[in-house]
Amino acid sequence: MIDFKEKIAEEISKKMDITVKEIEEYLEIPKDNKMGDYALPCFKLAKEMKKSPIIIANEIKEQIEMPNKYIAKIEVVNGFLNIFINNKMLIENLLEEMQEKKEKYGSSTIGNGKNIIVEYSSPNIAKPFHVGHLRTTVIGRALYNMYKFLGYNTIGINHLGDWGTQFGKLIEGYKRFGNEYNLEENPIDKLTEIYVRINELCKEDESVLENCRENFKKLEDGDKYCVEIWEKFKDLSLKEFQRIYDILNVHFDSNNGESFYTDKMPEVVEILRKNNKLIESQGAEIVDLEYKNMPPLMVVKSNGSTTYATRDLAAILYRARTYDFDKCIYVVGSEQNLHFNQVFEVAKYLDLDEKYTNGLIHVPYGMVRLKTGKMSTREGTLIKLEDILKEAISRAGAIIEEKNPNLEGKEDIAKKVGIGAVIFNDLANNIIKDEVFDWDIMLNFQGETGPYIQYMYVRTKSMLDKENYIMNKDLVDTAELEKNGMELIKQIYVFGDIIKQAVDKNEPSIISRYLIDIAKLYSSFYNDNKIIVEDEKIRNTRLCLTYMVGNVLKIGTSLLGMEMPDRM
Ligand code: ARG
Repeated sequence: MIDFKEKIAEEISKKMDITVKEIEEYLEIPKDNKMGDYALPCFKLAKEMKKSPIIIANEIKEQIEMPNKYIAKIEVVNGFLNIFINNKMLIENLLEEMQEKKEKYGSSTIGNGKNIIVEYSSPNIAKPFHVGHLRTTVIGRALYNMYKFLGYNTIGINHLGDWGTQFGKLIEGYKRFGNEYNLEENPIDKLTEIYVRINELCKEDESVLENCRENFKKLEDGDKYCVEIWEKFKDLSLKEFQRIYDILNVHFDSNNGESFYTDKMPEVVEILRKNNKLIESQGAEIVDLEYKNMPPLMVVKSNGSTTYATRDLAAILYRARTYDFDKCIYVVGSEQNLHFNQVFEVAKYLDLDEKYTNGLIHVPYGMVRLKTGKMSTREGTLIKLEDILKEAISRAGAIIEEKNPNLEGKEDIAKKVGIGAVIFNDLANNIIKDEVFDWDIMLNFQGETGPYIQYMYVRTKSMLDKENYIMNKDLVDTAELEKNGMELIKQIYVFGDIIKQAVDKNEPSIISRYLIDIAKLYSSFYNDNKIIVEDEKIRNTRLCLTYMVGNVLKIGTSLLGMEMPDRM
């Protein structure tokens, strides 16, 4: 697609003694489009050219022939050059591009040859998949899709929490009261109960706690009995998690969780020791991080067991070697900020190339809040994700039942709308902000919601299914679009840039906001302009615009992980 910014910079550079790159750097996009599509603040050139900004601006304007292929007009206002691009050129170029790329519109090859790991979801075995894990799952999957769409070789990893001293406890609990429970139905609920009970016992009786520690040590050493029970916990949990992944339609390229790194940790310890980074402290081995104003990182516990952090370090080594990553992105809640700061700092002592240590990125996100308050396991207001997803589907179903009881394929549509609403709500704002979970808001078909976007898409689709249209610049009335659809056209035009911005910032909400803007713009276009009119050329023109809007909405939502219904 034509890069107008670059073309404008080239035009100016041809006439003046300034490099294209420099001009491109100075070109701004004015807030008010009455000031042009681009503006050049000429005071930035004043020093170098030893002239006043107004003189420079007028000189440039005089030198450039207008209108030309890329520029329609230039105005000088207070030392600013306000540049209006050639809209006809832009429309024609957009039509061509859209026609050629179709459902790949906005994609790119800039990522080719680069490996990006996105680590997301990563729930803990034998513990509930709670609503905090929904955020990492949804955000991570969106990032994964976005990177992939830009041509990166993307690897999605579910770093399951399937290792750690808590399994020593769980094994002990299972030994003591396992026979009281039928684990097959609701395994995670049952395991949670067992866990709570054994924890209480540990508090009362130090020797039970000692047994738990021994169990974990045995597990690490590969004891047959312990490994067998642990595997059972793991299988049962994965089955439950899989149900959620199926509803959300989430996939991973690797499920290597924490346990995968058991045999890879001794090397971490060895390297850190060789580099004189391990300090003995009350029988444990730690890395001092005082110089970074952080508490020390424990690598080996006093009983010789490893830690969550050690496994993360081993994973970094392994991933660098296995995937040769350019970025390794961790989508994990902001409550683990310190953990990742510590781990990334210690990773610098693993003798890895700087490429890898610089590529470690923690993408933190905020908490989920119910309308009434915080959702927290500790407060006992534990809400299971599966129940939430099911409720979303049934609420969407009820709305459809009320609005359109004869709709064909209601169930499938309710699923797409309900889940779409949850996903969009999760990604609607900057991810670092806490997410408010309010059914009425997220399922409002008129609000800034997933269902609103789906509804706009369905409108475009139902029109396009009934009418014929041809995406060809000779059959499109560009003057008509310039008059009524230019804002929309320009938005559609920048879709690719929007995805790049979202990837640069690891911020899917840039895409969500954009989709809301497009949907609103189209909604007002649709209200002001009848689409199916007598005049064939105008009808075709408006249908082509409708197609472009629908296409962008569909691509954008699918990057976010939503599915589009065909009817609603
Ligand atoms: N399992 C952890 C939890 O649920 C998240 C894991 C995050 N990833 C990591 N590499 N430490 O809190």
